[in-house]
Amino acid sequence: MSRPLLVTSALPYANGPLHLGHLAGAYLPADLFVRYQRLAGRDVVWVCGSDEHGAAIEIRARREGVTPQSIVDRYHAELKSAFDGFGIAFDTYGRTSSAMHRTTSQDLFRSIEAADGFVRKTTTQLYDPEAGLFLADRFVQGTCPVCGYPDAYGDQCENCGSTLSPDDLIEPRSALSGATPETRETTHWYLPLGDLQPQLEAWIGTRENWKPNVLGQVKSWFQAGLADRSMTRDLDWGIPVPPEVDGETEGKVLYVWFDAPIGYLSATKEWAEAEGDAELWRRYWQVHPDGTEPELVHFIGKDNIVFHCLTFPAILMTANAAQPTLPQFTLPTQVPANEFLNLEGRKLSTSRGWAVWAAEALDAFDADLLRYALAVGLPETKDADFTWSDFQNRVNGELADVVGNFANRALTFAARFCDGQVPALVDPTEADRAMLDALAAAPAAIGEAYTAYRLREAVALTVDLARKGNQYLQETEPWKTRKTDEQAMRNSVHVALQVTAGLSILLDPVVPGIAARLREMLALTGVRSSTGAGTDGLGWADAGTALLDTGHPIGEPGILVAKVEDEAVEAQRQLLADRSAAAEPSDLATETDEPAAPYTALSDEITFDQFTPLDLRVGRIVAADLHPKADKLLRFDVDLGFETRQILSGVREWFSPDELVGTQVVVVANLAPRTIRGLESNGMILFAEDRDGALKPVVPHGEPGAVVR
Ligand code: MF3
Ligand code: ZN
Repeated sequence: MSRPLLVTSALPYANGPLHLGHLAGAYLPADLFVRYQRLAGRDVVWVCGSDEHGAAIEIRARREGVTPQSIVDRYHAELKSAFDGFGIAFDTYGRTSSAMHRTTSQDLFRSIEAADGFVRKTTTQLYDPEAGLFLADRFVQGTCPVCGYPDAYGDQCENCGSTLSPDDLIEPRSALSGATPETRETTHWYLPLGDLQPQLEAWIGTRENWKPNVLGQVKSWFQAGLADRSMTRDLDWGIPVPPEVDGETEGKVLYVWFDAPIGYLSATKEWAEAEGDAELWRRYWQVHPDGTEPELVHFIGKDNIVFHCLTFPAILMTANAAQPTLPQFTLPTQVPANEFLNLEGRKLSTSRGWAVWAAEALDAFDADLLRYALAVGLPETKDADFTWSDFQNRVNGELADVVGNFANRALTFAARFCDGQVPALVDPTEADRAMLDALAAAPAAIGEAYTAYRLREAVALTVDLARKGNQYLQETEPWKTRKTDEQAMRNSVHVALQVTAGLSILLDPVVPGIAARLREMLALTGVRSSTGAGTDGLGWADAGTALLDTGHPIGEPGILVAKVEDEAVEAQRQLLADRSAAAEPSDLATETDEPAAPYTALSDEITFDQFTPLDLRVGRIVAADLHPKADKLLRFDVDLGFETRQILSGVREWFSPDELVGTQVVVVANLAPRTIRGLESNGMILFAEDRDGALKPVVPHGEPGAVVR
């Protein structure tokens, strides 16, 4: 028996509509993954819900003169319907303002508190006497001490980029009321992450197959040293700190990043109640008495890594330690965080109007078309770019021309020349058998990609099967054999229909609507639902078998995928341009009180004499390709002016070979050669690794061969 699997997607803040960037980060990848798992018969539950607390929502409500509740009510409904429209099939979609969530969060806080799992600390903070509230750093404005910009924020100067703290600002003022902030003392409950660091490091060491972008961030937090984090806030909006705990609880609420991940737990409890067994949540959260442990998988965007890999596990560890005799919570098994999706070559920004709202896109296009285009370009290992022209090309060139065309040929041939029935397969040729073999191998190969969270690859492999189907028809030419060898034609149609039937299951995670239409055209019934409604019927593995009996009457063939017209994508581009022109950027609107990832700690000091032996040169990449035998490496030819070198780099995760050709780079030119899997590397190309673990080339001016020193 496989382990019960709980999948979560980051709870979106209920203070703005859903856009394509959100979808590509935490929702569509999880939907593909979970639909696959359901079809494969896995015991899986997938939870999500609206994140309805936090300073940003309270501040926004104050500025707009409305209640926070009215904001979250509106966006909760909007989010839910956008997810529905996109076919994002959560098992449950909750909200953190629910009674169940309040109780669950308060209970957990109380039990950690009772076991002295928090430390209380008193600090001074800026207070806005007019608005009557403590100010997060972002809500203090003043003059930048570095560049003199008058509207710098208490955490950063947008003009010169300096990182600031509110004390640094000259003539600080409240961004809410304009009043001069006062300094006041306040006491909060902190999670002692500093003390927990060794335990967290040991635990991270036991995690298997985590993505390099995730581990990279985690390591840099460790290197910087974890700081204790306050789990409470002075705010009106939020879950009250349970009044019966020791200390001043008046006016204090749980920090949104304490309560929100607990939302996964409360949503599971709500789901269990709806299933008619209130205790069923335990199966997905706790280590069973027999020792089996569920798997917990968090789909998130990269800005949420620290909370899911460090803070939330620390909360769960502390809760476990607080109640050692009770069943223990499981800790995350996998956190397949995604990078960001850019839009038409620019960073997404809701405040600048540079975003495609899900609801708007759904008005213009069938959800499956958007799902497909996003799925083939998911920001899995590095930031990706969504453009409307890619969308059109992918849909028309792949979904319509490859998948739609193949299915259409199979179905119309059967309708016209085989009496609308599945013809018998008699004395199959080599080509027929090879096609059926490819079908038989597909579910395992595609399934393996899904299980390893290589979702883009899973989608590409699926479309590949249809591509092979087209090649097969091209090769066996049933339109010719129809007149020369009727049985050969019948064999082609038989085989093509079986592949089409297999595809109607294999495509289901990606384009569930198209897959269902395909099954309708085939009159194929009895396939299990990928939305979680029932576990009976034909599943993933069956997709590789001959699903259609000889003589089975097929349904009406029809157009499976209608092409996207130029005017339709042009209208979307126009919409984007208009909205971004009309937007008045407000950085305060998106303030979320979240810490940025730390920079890597400095290495030990070296002397000048240790530096001088390095021979650094300007180089230009003149050719690049994949290392044929090492799947993390790229092979480069680098022009160093006086010679061209072959250099290998482990950067395949971040770059495709083409995109670096022509780039100038800094090369460590006197590094001893090394042979890696049969290829020699003569030097090293330098890359800048940012705080999220993403790589960029270090691009120098100067001609190839120039000495860098
Ligand atoms: N609302 C947060 C965001 O959009 C994500 C919360 S994830 C959870 O960045 F774990 F806290 F639920
Ligand atoms: Zn400045």
